Amino acid sequence: MTEHARLNPAVTITRQWWHSSTVYQIYPRSFADSNGDGIGDIPGIISKLDYLEKLGIDLIWLSPIYASPMDDNGYDISNYQDIAPEFGTLDDFWELLAKAKERGIGIVLDLVVNHTSDEHDWFLQARKGRDNPFRDFYIWRDPGPDGGPPNDLQSIFGGSAWELDPSSGQYYLHLFSRRQPDLNWENEGVRRAVYDMMNWWLDRGIAGFRMDVIDLIGKQPDKKITADGPHLHDYIQEMRRETLRHRDALTVGETWSVTPDSALLYSGRERHELSMVFQFEHVTQRWDEVFGKWRSKPFDLVALKAVFSKWQQALAEDGWNSLFWGNHDLPRAVSRYGDEGEFRVPSAKTLATVLHMMRGTPYVYQGEEIGMTNASFTSIEQYKDIETLNMHRLHLAAGLSPQDFIAGAHMNSRDNARTPMPWTDAPHGGFTTGTPWIEANGNVGSINAAAAVDDDQSVFHHYRTLITLRKTHDVIVYGRYQSYLDQHPEVFLYTRTLGGDRVTVLANLSKAPVVVALPGEIVTEGEALVWTHQPISSLEQTVSLRAWESFCILTRT
Ligand code: NOJ
Repeated sequence: MTEHARLNPAVTITRQWWHSSTVYQIYPRSFADSNGDGIGDIPGIISKLDYLEKLGIDLIWLSPIYASPMDDNGYDISNYQDIAPEFGTLDDFWELLAKAKERGIGIVLDLVVNHTSDEHDWFLQARKGRDNPFRDFYIWRDPGPDGGPPNDLQSIFGGSAWELDPSSGQYYLHLFSRRQPDLNWENEGVRRAVYDMMNWWLDRGIAGFRMDVIDLIGKQPDKKITADGPHLHDYIQEMRRETLRHRDALTVGETWSVTPDSALLYSGRERHELSMVFQFEHVTQRWDEVFGKWRSKPFDLVALKAVFSKWQQALAEDGWNSLFWGNHDLPRAVSRYGDEGEFRVPSAKTLATVLHMMRGTPYVYQGEEIGMTNASFTSIEQYKDIETLNMHRLHLAAGLSPQDFIAGAHMNSRDNARTPMPWTDAPHGGFTTGTPWIEANGNVGSINAAAAVDDDQSVFHHYRTLITLRKTHDVIVYGRYQSYLDQHPEVFLYTRTLGGDRVTVLANLSKAPVVVALPGEIVTEGEALVWTHQPISSLEQTVSLRAWESFCILTRT
């Protein structure tokens, strides 16, 4: 499936099928409920494949569907080779795999191997005592000198990362909840078991893996090293040798710690450990230095553009970017970066355009394609997310007012992305005939998939256009990225160039109309590719842009 193509005068890149693909992320719990129990499930996903085919996506990344006590909504796995009953059965999964394949859609599974559930058989065994053969599958330490935890390492969900196991008197490590004990990757048995499990799924035809917090697996907790441990890349290379080397799978690592240099270690052609990684600089850039995401900074387009341009340039000749605004841990794109009020539709379209026209593989998080907004919860009782609830407890104990916490949660709680997918204007957006596990958005009457599909000016059809353009224009996939007007506080302007083709992307990322003087080389005439307000096929020296207006022009010489 690969082919060497001379795509850029300076670079010979090996063409990969996933370079022109678009991935759609499904959070199964909130996508579509087929049996009225209020929880989304696999048969529900199967019933929406026509919708996804219409959107044009190539791959579905499924957040975990495995057996789990659901302490962290499935990111706590008790059996990697079985399905949680609320999501269905293995047979349902094989049916999804086959029916998606019939439509040309591959399934990418979530590989959560930094930790398991405390109900995984390995941990149940390990807990039995220090001599148990599975003991060393996890990370155990004696108490510290004061009789408390071995050190002050903190869990990402708040509190100590160590939990006492009273029967043995030792502590085990959990970088997430205490019900998510960390696996010990130094143990060869752990690595072998993970590779066997990966091969089991790959042999059955899945298209690849999204790898949960993969940058943490090389941790050295005694030195308080969590991300980027000294053996991290050894493990990933071994994983590749044992599972992926002879397969044509897509792999994407979740790496909050990645830098442009380490991105090349992961996805560069020399090692090709993974197809690509998720970098989060455009996300964390808006977090407070002290309070993190619970107090965010104002929108700063100049800084945001600088981050995107940095990553576009860093991986211009080697490696590969993943492009995303949102996922199940992040707020809704339109609420965070756009305008959820009067300009919701043009801002959702413009955000999509500036992202999808870059070089990399785009990821669309369920509901983003219809411009879903953040949850409108006003009380902590409406939130379900373990991180939000833990942080609420800890921040209030530390003196934050309940109102301030709710304001922060409204901006950045993970539940903003987890409200049910609205399919129609029926109660709960038609997500379920029962009571949803988490309240639906108050605006399902106007923001729902049926309305979006029916309206040819909708955000949905804009995404459809962008996804198709990537498949039909090599310049969008491989073109060289060049940004302009970097210091302009409202306008995002860049070009992509490949051979004689050039795409110019011009966008106003603000609700103020702007008149902008363009650099001489941008003046152009060509073909209107995609637009928010009206097709534009030529650019003069001075251009007026309406609130959140954007468009792309293809010039061929
Ligand atoms: C990252 C996942 O995206 C998040 O949802 C989860 O809670 C943690 N990893 C732990 O698995």
